[in-house]
Amino acid sequence: MKTKNILLIGFMGVGKGRLAREMAARTGFFILDTDDLIESFENRKIKKIFRQEGEPYFRNIEQKVANWLELHVSNTIISTGGGFFAVENLNRIGTVVFLRSDFDTIIREMLDHPKAAKKIKKRPLFQDVEKAQQLFETRQPLYTAKADIVIDVAGRQSEDIANEITRHLNLTASSEA
Ligand code: S3P
Repeated sequence: MKTKNILLIGFMGVGKGRLAREMAARTGFFILDTDDLIESFENRKIKKIFRQEGEPYFRNIEQKVANWLELHVSNTIISTGGGFFAVENLNRIGTVVFLRSDFDTIIREMLDHPKAAKKIKKRPLFQDVEKAQQLFETRQPLYTAKADIVIDVAGRQSEDIANEITRHLNLTASSEA
């Protein structure tokens, strides 16, 4: 039986991937990223998938990834794309951790990043800031509804957040895979 996956959900730019790497370093768990799985499966970037096929196609692959994760993956830290929370079997894949921030912080951190332009360009749903903010607001209660744990991350270092989560979930260094 599949056990002990940890899924990091939350809005674009909240730091899910960075935190997953930080958690992997301190627990010995492997990590997977749903967007990386989709890009390698499709052999093209997310941006291109959205442009060539449209969003519903992308969401359909997210569901396929979710089905595969549920059946075949265990003891793994899984960082997800910002819309992955909507798959129908999310809570059967593992413990869901919602990384909560506020929109101003997300924007500020994205713009302060040395690779800001690249970070924005690769995200089709972040091209228009007003639309992104609306999406952010629509999604906040939906993320909360799916979450087993909610962690406030605004303005915090990933080391500090990783400590809180690993303590909360009782994940010790080099947990058994
Ligand atoms: C999306 C978030 C992106 C990516 C795709 C759609 C979303 O992932 O999956 O562009 O719907 O919020 P990040 O959260 O890693 O940016």
